[in-house]
This record gives sequence, C-alpha cells and structure tokens, in this order.
Amino acid sequence: MPRHLLSLADVNADEVNRLFDIAADLKSKLAEGVRRPLLAGRVMAMIFEKPSLRTRVSFEAGMGQLGGSTLFLGPDAGFRKRESIEDFGRVLSEYVDAIVVRCYAHDTLATLARCASCPVINGLSDFSHPCQAMADLFTLRELRGKLAGSTLAWIGDCNNVARSLALGCGRTGMKMLVACPTQYRFSDDELVWIRRHADTLDIAFVDDPFEAVAQADAVYTDVWVSMGQEKERDERIAIFSPYQVNGRLMAAAPRHAVFMHCLPAHRGEEVTDEVIDGPNSVVVRQAGNRMHVQKAILAWLLGAADVVR
Ligand code: CP
Ligand code: NVA
Repeated sequence: MPRHLLSLADVNADEVNRLFDIAADLKSKLAEGVRRPLLAGRVMAMIFEKPSLRTRVSFEAGMGQLGGSTLFLGPDAGFRKRESIEDFGRVLSEYVDAIVVRCYAHDTLATLARCASCPVINGLSDFSHPCQAMADLFTLRELRGKLAGSTLAWIGDCNNVARSLALGCGRTGMKMLVACPTQYRFSDDELVWIRRHADTLDIAFVDDPFEAVAQADAVYTDVWVSMGQEKERDERIAIFSPYQVNGRLMAAAPRHAVFMHCLPAHRGEEVTDEVIDGPNSVVVRQAGNRMHVQKAILAWLLGAADVVR
C-alpha cells in the first residue's frame, strides 16, 4: 500500500520534522544552484477541480527541479464525469508515480487514494490543505528557530487551512488560539478527529480577536469565503467583519508577531493592505516555501529522500 498525504493525520511528529529537514536541505541546495535529479524519470499527474496559482505552479516547478515531469490533466480527462473515481484512480496510477488532487469534497480524494497504487497528495480539499500547513510551519521554524512553545492566533473561519494548522500545531508542540464566531468554529466531531490525531494539542477558542493576538507569535487569517462557498458570501462578510486583521489588531499583538496568510487574499476583507504589505508580513515567504516543502514531500513519499541530509 502506498503512503498518501491527505491530511496531517497521515504523518507523525517525527515525520513532520524529517520533512522540514529535507525541505531545508533542498532549499539551501537550490540557493547554491544545486538541483539534484532525485526524481529523474518520475511522472506526477495533477487533477484540479478548483483554480490555483501557488499549488499548481509550486508542484510543477518543484517536480521539474527534481528531474521529474508533470501532467496537468484538464477537463478532457473527464475526472468524475466519464468513469468512476475508483476506475480513474486505478488506471491513472498505472501510468504515473504520484497524483496531486485539488477537489471540492474530501471524500473524492479518499476514494481515489483507496484505489491508487501510487501516493496521492491533497492539493486542497474542503476539509484540509496539508501542504499549506506544512509550508506555514516550516516558515515559522525558519523564522523562530523552533516551533515548540510558540503560539499561533487564527483569526476567522475554521476552514480547511485552520484544520490543517490545528493538526500541525499538535504535531509540533505549538499552541493555537482561535478567534472565530461560534457558528464557524470547528464542529465537535472535527475537534474529536483533531484530538484523536494530535492528543497533546493545546487549542482554545475565544470570541475576541484582540484577546487571541495578545500572546501570539504568529497572527494567521484566511478568506472568509472559501472556494465553493460563494453563495454564502453576503452572510459571511457580515458575520466576519469584526474579525478583520488590520493595523489596530496587529498593534495589540506582541511586536515580534508575524502576519501570515495562505493567499490568495481578499484585501479589504479579512486583511488590510497595511498589514499584508507591512513589515511583519511573511506571506510571500510562506508561498515560496510551498515549493521547498512539497519537493520534500515528493522525494520522501517516492523513497528518494535518503540521500538528503
Ligand atoms: N494557498 C494556495 O493554495 O494557493 P492557490 O489556491 O493559488 O494554490
Ligand atoms: N480556504 C481557502 C484556501 C485557499 C488556498 C479556500 O479553500 O478557498
């Protein structure tokens, strides 16, 4: 059975640290101009039901730097239209070494992974975005030297990115403080699931974003309307508007606290220009690190990471 990365429940704390070490090595080698063809001859397929800049391009560029190649499957491949997900997964994995999927329903990914004979990587589902959270925590590790004992304040919707960060915080000894309207917090079932996979996670929920950022080392927000939720737009904007990360909120955080966002941002909604373009913003570094971390994930899942220190 191949290993998959559908959520951070698929990797334990030691594996997360190993992936960070591999990513750091690949990143520093690349900066020296060294691109080792660890995945020469390997082929990765990509199926995207939603738009993407960062995920698509960072996976394609990263695979190219590792000597492999990618196939971006467009609508003509007929995913979920021409045949069952099971048949699609069984056949596609006869041809390729890894599959990256961005889809609406997380079950789509789970079904594909059950039938695929090669690793399947979640490039974002409605439930989780593990590659994003890995890159975010890698970014914080670079900036702070270590993660254990740090506090991440999540401001806004408890969405796919928040769920992944919660597990990531649990894996790395970080505390998560969530400021979110009650009805958009993690459900009881989700909290049970998160705690089942990260039993030591220190997580707390507050209504007041000012309370959440007071002790934060990182202040993180994401869009109030995720892809697929467009019909709920007006209602969400009204409910989340007190949760905007603006200069006044950042002034209530410790001076060293960084501002994080997975991007794309809806400037003027969940974050103001002043904050996202301000001196504490690390959003471009986060986006850049997507590629280094995903190269590590690919090399590790495909058994090519042993040569990396
Ligand atoms: N953060 C992120 O996943 O960006 P894309 O939607 O552009 O891939
Ligand atoms: N929560 C956002 C993340 C985009 C990268 C969405 O799912 O649309």
